[in-house]
Amino acid sequence: MNRAVPHESAAKHVTGEAVYIDDMLVNEQLLVGKVVYSPHAHARIVSFDLEEARNTPGVHAVLSYRDIPGHNQMGPVVKDEVCLAEHEVVCVGQAVVLIAAETDEQCREAERKIKVQYEVLEPILTIEQAISAASLLGPPANMKRGEPDSSIRTSPHTIKGELHTGAQEHWYLESQVCLCVPGEHKEMNVFSSTQHPSETQSLIAEVLGVGKNEVVVEVRRMGGAFGGKETQGNHTACWAALLCNATNRPVKIRLFRDDDMIMTGKRHRFLSNYEVGYDDEGRILAANFDLHSDGGCATDLSFAIMQRAMLHVDNAYYIPDCSVSGTVYKTNLPSNTAFRGFGGPQGMAVIEQVIDRIARALHKDPAEVRHTNFYGMKDRNVTHYGQEVENNRLFMMYDQIMKSSEYLQRCKAIAAFNQESEFFKKGIALTPVKFGISFTTSFLNQAGALVLIYKDGTILVNHGGTEMGQGLHTKMQQVAASEFGVSLDRVKVNATNTSKVPNTSATAASAGADLNGMAVKNAVDILKGRIAENLAQYWNERDRLVTTRRDDIVFENNTITDSHYPKRNISFADAIPLLYLRQVQLSASGFYKTPNIGWDKDKGWGKPFHYFAFGMAVTEVNLDILTGHHNIIRTDILHDVGDSLNAGIDIGQVEGGYIQGLGWVTTEEVKWDGEGNLMTHSPDTYKIPGVQDIPKDFRTELLQNAPNPNTIRRSKAVAEPPLMLALSAWLAIKDAVSAVGNHELEPEFSLPATNEVILLSIEDLKRRKAEKTPAATTPEFAK
Ligand code: MOS
Repeated sequence: MNRAVPHESAAKHVTGEAVYIDDMLVNEQLLVGKVVYSPHAHARIVSFDLEEARNTPGVHAVLSYRDIPGHNQMGPVVKDEVCLAEHEVVCVGQAVVLIAAETDEQCREAERKIKVQYEVLEPILTIEQAISAASLLGPPANMKRGEPDSSIRTSPHTIKGELHTGAQEHWYLESQVCLCVPGEHKEMNVFSSTQHPSETQSLIAEVLGVGKNEVVVEVRRMGGAFGGKETQGNHTACWAALLCNATNRPVKIRLFRDDDMIMTGKRHRFLSNYEVGYDDEGRILAANFDLHSDGGCATDLSFAIMQRAMLHVDNAYYIPDCSVSGTVYKTNLPSNTAFRGFGGPQGMAVIEQVIDRIARALHKDPAEVRHTNFYGMKDRNVTHYGQEVENNRLFMMYDQIMKSSEYLQRCKAIAAFNQESEFFKKGIALTPVKFGISFTTSFLNQAGALVLIYKDGTILVNHGGTEMGQGLHTKMQQVAASEFGVSLDRVKVNATNTSKVPNTSATAASAGADLNGMAVKNAVDILKGRIAENLAQYWNERDRLVTTRRDDIVFENNTITDSHYPKRNISFADAIPLLYLRQVQLSASGFYKTPNIGWDKDKGWGKPFHYFAFGMAVTEVNLDILTGHHNIIRTDILHDVGDSLNAGIDIGQVEGGYIQGLGWVTTEEVKWDGEGNLMTHSPDTYKIPGVQDIPKDFRTELLQNAPNPNTIRRSKAVAEPPLMLALSAWLAIKDAVSAVGNHELEPEFSLPATNEVILLSIEDLKRRKAEKTPAATTPEFAK
């Protein structure tokens, strides 16, 4: 089962035969759609004139909010996001007017003829500005256990500080794209690059003012998503649908890369304050965390993301007395959104920085201080929100990776190297990940499937999840094949389609395989029950022998056998036509909802997660202290995916997640100018990891013999947790910087640790060393 079978589309990906939306053949009626967006971060729309643009040759539609037949709204949770601007624009990149024309050139010509008069208003562009203006997207959230304030006061040691963590661009290879094809009367067929086809369907129905049963959304595959298409694929889809509806012709919108980067939201920037009390061993006694995020101009998923940050501010560590507040600020930037980890990375970065600082203050090995603070096996095992950490694998994984990474020997070697080396310093760090699996909005933890067996014995699986390169369809194919006991080539997974499986949740929260796998299994179980019952009946009639029980009938090796009378057997391929003739229904829908979870999000207490995924990484870097440039010499990862559904795919996800996290913690810096224009809107100014940034020695292992109870084939989710393993690279760089001052002073540090941040940190350290002043941990530095 867990053989590393290749991704079902691997060959098609590399030959270019995999069909993405932009590759789809449409007829000559196809029109090009274009979005005209706001050039201002905040402005009043005084007037606009579309007449001249509408008369441009080849132009079929020029639409403003006045032309929306339904509701001008595409907020996914809170209805605070208009589809097209009305009287005000609230960020650069906000859609104002839509154009459909025969060619892209005609679209651009029409755009030049659009006259919009703006009255520019003062924008809010940073969290600090939003804090002083009290510009909130909603009320702050709080979680609390014990009495942290008094515990901090009575602690032997305390630290205080703040940490900035940066935004991050998703940089999916396929930019936002949607093709809408009109059907009969009000029907519309939508091919969207979306993680959430059901929501795309809902919002299209809403802007068009039609029932959801008129709108069919299909997703064959996305060319990457990473959370960036959890809600924001909806936008392009709504715009394309409006143009399709207005012209009654197929319309495709594919955002140009720079426009995509300018128009869409990013990972939330955070500004986090902390105050922590600890003892001589480095054991945390109490902590207060105040998290502030930049939500951008609308709510989108910001509150759920803040909640997940608050639920991960403990990472793998027990904090006896703990309070956490989370405030989401409204700024004049595109609405920030889901990004792999969904607030988890922002929360974990804070506690990892805290532990690192404690270790440096006490002159202890940070890995040892981490171990001291791990959640316990029998006690110290309840999180600050009341969930018990069951099946805790932290200690087991720590012992294993300490050995396999030769951590202690390498620490010694690094110390010796740093003594000798003037211009290069090495650093190392071990960081763990404990990540909660389930949507924290509990009702979203449901999934559906529709499994069809055709007369020739081939099987078509429909399920609610979407394929974005992560291998979900491959895993679903494997689940169906293993449960039916047939070979993989008998099973095909269909494109995700809202007319096959309704009311699905987004493929998100790392839960795609968990939820849809169980729904597929449920449908397969129903079919197997029916097949077994009818075959038993058939055999009983044939042999005049009536002892067959359902449980005696097994499905394996492409054969269905009565284990009680093994001579009663039939190949799967022969059984199906036989059963068809006997009028047996050969399709079934399946359903799953995650059991035994639920929590009170207002009180911040309960059991939000079905289980935790664990991981651990050791990263070693070599830093050029004159340029701030660093190389990763070696990375060791040990990651827990339970009994892997597909070890090849899972290792790919773990490595890819780590590298994507590496971008967030090192080179990826999103910058806006003083007017709210994105300065880093293309790959020449925004540096994602390249092949050169991959660790020179990269050792990834999956934890073995670690079945996960009550999940599909005892597996665990994989997608998001490994991203946060990259915090080990961030802290390894900090360790190398610290070596510049011979570990006598603690470096100032923020995230991402760009070359600039590293050089400033080194200069600051040298200056303080000369002046013998302690770390400032000031807001000024962190900017
Ligand atoms: Mo994901 S960041 O939950 O789409």
